[in-house]
Amino acid sequence: MAIREIIQPDNPILRKKAHRVQSFDGKFQTLVEDMIETLDDAPGVGLAAPQVAVSQRLIIVRLPDDDESREEYGREAGKLYVVANPEIARASKEMVEGTEACLSIPGLFGTVDRHQSVTVKGLDRHGKPVRIKAKDWLARVFQHEIDHLDGRLYIDIAKDIWREVPQEEVES
Ligand code: NI
Repeated sequence: MAIREIIQPDNPILRKKAHRVQSFDGKFQTLVEDMIETLDDAPGVGLAAPQVAVSQRLIIVRLPDDDESREEYGREAGKLYVVANPEIARASKEMVEGTEACLSIPGLFGTVDRHQSVTVKGLDRHGKPVRIKAKDWLARVFQHEIDHLDGRLYIDIAKDIWREVPQEEVES
């Protein structure tokens, strides 16, 4: 396993539509392992393959596994999601506003409207179909990561962007 470099928007790969995953071979498994290690090292809650300069439709998501997260998200806290070719199969009409940041855009934060809940379908790391129901923060992270696969960044859709986290947002 290895920590990979997280690229920034000056690298055009981040703005490309990524290719569908076709093969779940050893090279792909190494990519998955490296992305997990890179996410943990960052640390972050989600990473899309284009962020490590690989133009493939692959995301990993993991909410923190600490007491606060467990209280708020229950079993979702600390659970690792690896999803290839993810698609949003269903999305709530209800939109919610929240704060986002991105490992590819260090130091910035923004306010983004996202669907309150989504159902994500795709394939697991072995190519087996998966369907994930996510709400609140988890749903937000999935929407953010899936956007990366189409070259879209949260700063494209943010209502406002700033450099420091206002104190009242830190806990959310
Ligand atoms: Ni991001």
